[in-house]
Amino acid sequence: MYNELEGEIAVVTGGSKGIGTAISKRFGSEKMNVVVNYFSDSKGADKAVKIIEEAGGKGLAIQANIGEEAGVQKLIDAAIAEFGGLDVWVNNAGVENQSPTHELSLEDWNRVLTTNLTGVFLGSKAALNYFVKNSKKGNIINLSSVHEQIPWPGFAHYAASKGGVKLFTESIAMEYAKQNIRVNNIGPGAINTPINAKKFANPVQYEETASMVPMHRIGAPEEVAAAATWLASDESSYVTGITLFVDGGMTLYPAFQDGKG
Ligand code: BGC
Repeated sequence: MYNELEGEIAVVTGGSKGIGTAISKRFGSEKMNVVVNYFSDSKGADKAVKIIEEAGGKGLAIQANIGEEAGVQKLIDAAIAEFGGLDVWVNNAGVENQSPTHELSLEDWNRVLTTNLTGVFLGSKAALNYFVKNSKKGNIINLSSVHEQIPWPGFAHYAASKGGVKLFTESIAMEYAKQNIRVNNIGPGAINTPINAKKFANPVQYEETASMVPMHRIGAPEEVAAAATWLASDESSYVTGITLFVDGGMTLYPAFQDGKG
């Protein structure tokens, strides 16, 4: 528990499933007020709100397209109207699909870049605007990926979006550091979320991925939520512009693990 988080107000984009729900739940158990954004999964968002409230916090589900300026505005307006302000903004929403790049449709490219990169820009812009205009210290946490660093054939658009998030985060972390606004990334590796549910339900595919992780297992959404909560707390008060990898060592060149090379 981080006592200072009690009563703080957070927006979590893509909070209706996976890592977004786990972060919302953990924020709830810190007794925070959480705006849970969803795009289409209203049931998942309602469930997340219930989980937050059972954990001891307050939740509010809001439908919005975070790829549009009006969408993120709706979220910040809800945080202010319902809970009285904003302390932590989590850009979590993300999408991915696999395609050989020579066949990748412009539509899929745009869809992935819009949610994963433009959404991070728009969410950060809305949060920064609030923090700057109200002379408030602020906290922005972006869910990037190990693929901000590891190239991913067949997912070039996804990797490009996450590489973009890395430099966007570093740039705005510097730009707003003097105002005591901290901006950090979390880089999850292979985590058991709905994006991966099918893949990891198959023991062969589970093993295939686990073998690329020095800790040899898939991570749990709660392990990512723990990192987000630390970044939201004052325990990380001197940390800005980093990517905190939560990946069981996936970014450490696992092919070398047993002294090969
Ligand atoms: C992706 C997962 C993938 C993991 C490791 C994440 O960013 O969302 O689908 O398993 O990276 O490759």
